[in-house]
Amino acid sequence: MLYLIGLGLGDVKDITVKGMEIIKKCTRVYLEAYTSILTVGKEALEEFYGRELILADREMVEQEADEILKDADVADVAFLVVGDPFGATTHSDLVLRAVKAGISYRVIHNASIMNAVGCCGLQLYNFGETVSVVFWTDTWKPESFYDKIKRNRLNGMHTLCLLDIKVKEQSVENLIKGRKIYEPPRYMSVNQASEQLLEIIQNRRGQSEKLALSEDTICVGLSRVGAEDQKILAGPLKEMASAELGGPLHSMIISGHLHPLEIDMLKLFAVSEASFENLKMTDSSTFTS
Ligand SMILES: C[S@@+](CC[C@H](N)C(=O)[O-])C[C@H]1O[C@@H](n2cnc3c(N)ncnc32)[C@H](O)[C@@H]1O
Repeated sequence: MLYLIGLGLGDVKDITVKGMEIIKKCTRVYLEAYTSILTVGKEALEEFYGRELILADREMVEQEADEILKDADVADVAFLVVGDPFGATTHSDLVLRAVKAGISYRVIHNASIMNAVGCCGLQLYNFGETVSVVFWTDTWKPESFYDKIKRNRLNGMHTLCLLDIKVKEQSVENLIKGRKIYEPPRYMSVNQASEQLLEIIQNRRGQSEKLALSEDTICVGLSRVGAEDQKILAGPLKEMASAELGGPLHSMIISGHLHPLEIDMLKLFAVSEASFENLKMTDSSTFTS
């Protein structure tokens, strides 16, 4: 049996009792190590579970999945995922491969960033499509996530922005030379995501596009959700560019139509007292401030 087990969002203790029991009886236990991180590392998890963990990076999961699935038709193999196993799009592939190989699978769910963001007071029912914001380079500055945010805003929906994680990346030079030397991990901050969004707004304004969001659109920055030192800050996009949220992981929400109750909740996390003063509701699908 292949078990996909969610570890939750905070630290070692967020695993479910069911997940922990299964880990203890499995022949091999893999830890997926590229779509998310906990506040603690592999060693702390090994100590808590009393089991050795095999790190599974992107290369292993995408190119050597057969290795993970080896003998899983006759033995129990666990695949641990921070958050919920299906909180990332990546793991459906492993399930499909298992089914194709005649291996049964079971999922042990846990909290995901996809639902834990409700902690800021915005209603999960009012979210549209989730977007991924990728790190820009000097020559590659994709803006497609802006268009999705725009569609959500036009429908009055909030947008959860998941921010890029770069682990085990090679520099162009090392890639060309075939050297397996990796850059230090990078996790996008709310400040970086806000700066990229502000740049897109400037570009679009230059093209005289009717803007779906502006520097004053209310946003929420969240860091280390589920950990003891989690932080939430709400305010206009322009203030998010310098909001202090501390270490990774970060997520960001671009608000859509705000219900009065949602506004009251967001005020609990206001970056500054002035942040919400000029907020005016305009119609049922959009608002300006
Ligand atoms: C692929 S997604 C998360 C997948 C994970 N399986 C889950 O269900 O939460 C990874 C992104 O989610 C966000 N994220 C994950 N955990 C977070 C946390 N505890 N606090 C804030 N953002 C988080 C970050 O933007 C991160 O880059």
